[in-house]
Formats: sequence, C-alpha cells, structure tokens
Amino acid sequence: MTDDRLIVALDLPDAVQGLVLAEKLGDACGFYKIGLGMLTGGGLALANELKQEHGKRIFLDMKLFDIAATIETAVRGLSQFDPDFLTVHGDPHVVDAAKQGAAGSDLKILAVTILTSLDRADLDAGLMKAGALPDLVRERAQKAFAAGADGVIASPQEAALIRALPDAKGRLIVTPGVRPADSDPGDQKRIATPASAVRDGADHIVVGRPIWQASDPRAAAQSILDDLSKT
Ligand code: C5P
Repeated sequence: MTDDRLIVALDLPDAVQGLVLAEKLGDACGFYKIGLGMLTGGGLALANELKQEHGKRIFLDMKLFDIAATIETAVRGLSQFDPDFLTVHGDPHVVDAAKQGAAGSDLKILAVTILTSLDRADLDAGLMKAGALPDLVRERAQKAFAAGADGVIASPQEAALIRALPDAKGRLIVTPGVRPADSDPGDQKRIATPASAVRDGADHIVVGRPIWQASDPRAAAQSILDDLSKT
C-alpha cells in the first residue's frame, strides 16, 4: 500500500507535465501537492483528474490571505474540487473563515505560520513584531490551532516545538524542506531527512525537486519511502 506520509510537490509549469510525472511515479506516490505555480497551467483540472481518475489525494497549496468573506467563498469554491488539504495564512480570521468555507466537506485547512524562506530582517521589513523566529512560529501556530486549523505547515526544525504544544494533539504537521541524506539541498536552508522529520513530529513530508528533477523519479521516491519505513 502507498505510504501517504510522502507528498510529492508537482512544481511543474503545466498539467500535462504534472500528469506525465504522476504516471511515472505510479503507486510510489498517493498524495500530490499542487501550488500557485501551476494555477494558470491547468492545476485545478489536474487536481481533479488525479483525484477522480487516479484515486490520489490532493494538497492545494494556495496560501490564501484576504478578508473573511472572500476567504470563505474561495474555500467553498475550491472544496468542489474535493482536495484533501488546503493552505491559508495562519491569521486567525483567515483560518476561521476557511473552516467555515470548508464546512460540510472533508477538506483539512492547514495554516502557514511564517514562511520558512523569511528571516528576522524580512519580518522587520514586513513590520512583523519583534521576537525570535521560533517563538513567533510557535505563537502563530497556537493562534491558528485556537482558530480551528486542522494543522500547520512547518520546517523540520519547527516541527518538534509545534508538536510539543498542547493544542497540537490531533492536528497535522506537514513539513517541506526535506531531503534524502545523499541529495542536493538546492535553496532549502533548514533541511532534514524524511525519517528525522517524522521523528520530530511531522505527519506528512513534502518533497519536490529531489523527485521531479531526478533521472528516475520513481527510484527517487522509493528511496524516500525506504527511509520513511524506518520510522
Ligand atoms: O523542491 P522542494 O522539495 O524544495 O519543494 C518543496 C515544496 O514545498 C515546494 O513546492 C515549495 O514551494 C514548498 N514550500 C517550501 N517551504 C515552505 C512552504 C512551502 O519549500 N515554507
């Protein structure tokens, strides 16, 4: 049976290339992440096809942020594609509105705390309050849980501190920035291996380039599944 703890990021420009990759991966992947990069390239149609025709689970990584009424309408509309996970920013009014939009569906709302690409200087530039990044991540996660988030996106380094929050019980932690031990980190700075991310509390790991850029994507996915099977 496919190990759905692995989510493959389909960071390809269009649905045709996404489908080619999904066909190469076959039963090595049961869960795909489709993001903004593919939105204008047929991403929602691909999400629908992978779900309805191939039985795959779908994570729409849209990182929505807007006024409550717009979020609720957008999430209600997206839920018609029957995705499993959807990201929104972790601001409580956004999470709350997203949960209302998802009412009646099985969609899980995942909150982005602070983008892992941002450092303290970026937060200063964006007028975010003072404090150490891990403390702000923990506080944002706590507020998102209180607003009803089904889970959060977190770097592997943040997974353990979020997992330790009392309100994290029964919530999902989904972790990008994961690399097989022997692979190129690319632009990911704070990385972990698949098994260590899971040991630190991740329920799912998101892996993109180590799989879709590999000459043999199925073998690359299989080596990640092998690492996961040690946990
Ligand atoms: O290619 P790679 O494995 O780095 O892809 C990771 C995926 O997770 C990409 O789709 C990227 O946009 C996403 N992501 C991330 N860091 C975040 C949030 C999302 O790398 N903080």
